[in-house]
Amino acid sequence: MALNFSAEQITLRQPDDWHVHLRDGEILKNVAISTARVFRRAIVMPNLSPPITSVEEAVNYRIRILDAIPKELSFTPLMTAYLTDDLSPKVLEQGHREGVFVAAKLYPANATTNSSQGVSDLKAIGSLFETMERIGLPLLIHGEVVDEDVDIFDREATFIDRHLQPLLVRYPKLRVVLEHITTEEAVQFVQDSKSNLAATITPHHLHINRNAIFAGGLRSDFYCLPVAKRERHRLALRRAATSGQTCFFLGTDSAPHLRGSKESSCGCAGIFNAQYALESYVTVFEEEGALERLEAFASENGPSFYGLPFNKSSVRLEKRPQQIPKQLQLKLANNSVEYLVPFHAGESLRWSLLPVEKSLNDN
Ligand code: NCD
Ligand code: ZN
Repeated sequence: MALNFSAEQITLRQPDDWHVHLRDGEILKNVAISTARVFRRAIVMPNLSPPITSVEEAVNYRIRILDAIPKELSFTPLMTAYLTDDLSPKVLEQGHREGVFVAAKLYPANATTNSSQGVSDLKAIGSLFETMERIGLPLLIHGEVVDEDVDIFDREATFIDRHLQPLLVRYPKLRVVLEHITTEEAVQFVQDSKSNLAATITPHHLHINRNAIFAGGLRSDFYCLPVAKRERHRLALRRAATSGQTCFFLGTDSAPHLRGSKESSCGCAGIFNAQYALESYVTVFEEEGALERLEAFASENGPSFYGLPFNKSSVRLEKRPQQIPKQLQLKLANNSVEYLVPFHAGESLRWSLLPVEKSLNDN
């Protein structure tokens, strides 16, 4: 099965999402389907409260995810471990051996949502990095420094200089994904890297620059971490994503927060984009005249990096405009009313996803 596209229709190998927050409880029950209706697999972030720091917690979380997905959808959640200062390397070895952990996630302590138990000193967790390098467990990095003297718009570039570069020198065989990159510096660094380094790129960082957060007032729906940067960075990300280079692949960083938690005096970071993520990416590739490279970014570069097979199923989109709702109401057990605001709320997107097609031998 090959990529096939015309002015009116696109068929592509079913994509995977290499970075998503599915949350837990009632939110999980509401959002999981948005991911599973389009993506065949997803790397599920472990930043629950409390975070996923044991194999047993990951196994139980995977069961809750699968329970939240309609049985007719084929979806495989790929679980990750949350690195802390005192996590034992044995946990990573066990999770890897048992086929539970597909990767481990490094949050610098207090860098983003639910990261207070993250790593306070990278130098102090050398035994975790050594183990991951040895067993081939990829390290996924939220690449921002947390130093208050570093401007928020410089935190990614500073992280690369201060931490990522030395880490890659010290552990040359470690497989690393710099997650949700937002800067020209990150694009350049990943492209130039001779080590096993890749990066995910979100739909929102391809569509918005930092002005969106302040357009006519404070727009908390566009606030996420790492925060969107200047226009030149957005353009660099668009070039990277649509370049076809194997080191760049799809990771939505869909991160739902209830509307009330976004619209608050201390609103949460995160954009919920899962529901229209593929349509959002397709728009970018079409605008860049790069639809022939969509499949590499969405469906091939990720599995190649993780050493996993390509999906055999396919998805189809047709050029039929769809209006994105201003908000989505959650179905809650206690009948209370809560909303999520999706990325592109109130806009019209040119492409619409058709139901997933299964090939006979899809597993
Ligand atoms: C994420 C979340 O809400 O869990 N937020 C975000 O802004 N992206 C955490 C993260 O990936 O930084
Ligand atoms: Zn994330």
